[in-house]
Amino acid sequence: FRAWRGLIEEYRDRLPVSATTPVVTLLEGGTPLVPARRVSQLTGCEVFLKVEGLNPTGSFKDRGMTVAISKAVEDGAKAVICASTGNTSASAAAYAVRAGLACAVLVPRGKIAMGKLAQALVHGAKLLQVEGSFDDCLEMTRKLAENYPIALVNSVNPHRLQGQKTAAFEIVDALGDAPDVHCIPVGNAGNISAYWMGYREYADDGVATRRPRMLGFQASGAAPLVGGSPVTHPQTIATAIRIGNPASWRLAEAARDESGGAIQAVTDRQIAAAYRLLAQEEGVFVELASAASVAGLLQAHEQGLVEQGLRVVCTVTGNGLKDPDWAISGAPAPVTIPVDAYAAASALELA
Ligand code: F0G
Repeated sequence: FRAWRGLIEEYRDRLPVSATTPVVTLLEGGTPLVPARRVSQLTGCEVFLKVEGLNPTGSFKDRGMTVAISKAVEDGAKAVICASTGNTSASAAAYAVRAGLACAVLVPRGKIAMGKLAQALVHGAKLLQVEGSFDDCLEMTRKLAENYPIALVNSVNPHRLQGQKTAAFEIVDALGDAPDVHCIPVGNAGNISAYWMGYREYADDGVATRRPRMLGFQASGAAPLVGGSPVTHPQTIATAIRIGNPASWRLAEAARDESGGAIQAVTDRQIAAAYRLLAQEEGVFVELASAASVAGLLQAHEQGLVEQGLRVVCTVTGNGLKDPDWAISGAPAPVTIPVDAYAAASALELA
């Protein structure tokens, strides 16, 4: 047994770091690839969940952040900034603490899950709630990083995608080769681009014999890559992917086209159903946006796009604990009882 050292040490020769790069890490990566029995049954495929909610701050963003923050420190940055639907800000805030950097985050007011807001605040980030969308926040953030001495750590920073590509490496390392199909939620479109980079790199170097078809899924009210043009007022219950003008638009299209894949829309209803299915039939608690990958797989299977017998990986991007409000609102209200075992037995219908 050897303890996991964080993804920069594990994949050092494939990342843009040198012997003198200060490694800022919370030992991210090394997340489980969990067989999904129920989803496999429903599709006739061999389905795995790449459970990214088990990263240190509860989402895949930590993979990108360890590299982006390490490089920012190497380049002499004193402060970092990002726009976020919540997870990027949580991750940036934590890694900034680790590195001794100041951290500023811009989020769309009222449109991020409570847990994510709590994370940015507890790690001491300067949090600005913008009366606008994520797309507005990103545009403002880019201007600030251009004009002031503050490093941008959104996924338009290429070090972010370098870190995030390691999830594809881990999948190939675990399965012995690439899967046939990879399903993933799409918001700002960085992650699908990063996975494709990782799969391509491993295939080019002969570590994998093949590359998967990439299937990306956007929420139907926020699906610019499906419609082919930006969405001015994106709407979805999956606030993490409530994005109308993704920064990595072209890269995501390339991932789709080079892999022979597709980017499709799934409705909020499908997302909520997949969220419940994962919680209640797989025992895996994810956030709403994460369930888009599984909602999408079920849809693609119904359309005949994903045939029986294939090996499929679905990335579930963030931890369900990020958004307790949503989890509670969809569940039956708990029953209150006095200190009385008989009352408990009766409430549990045991007696
Ligand atoms: N799933 C979750 C839980 C996310 O937080 C995000 C993006 C995505 C999927 C989509 O990934 O943007 O690379 O296509 N969250 C960003 C944020 C935008 O600010 O936390 P993407």
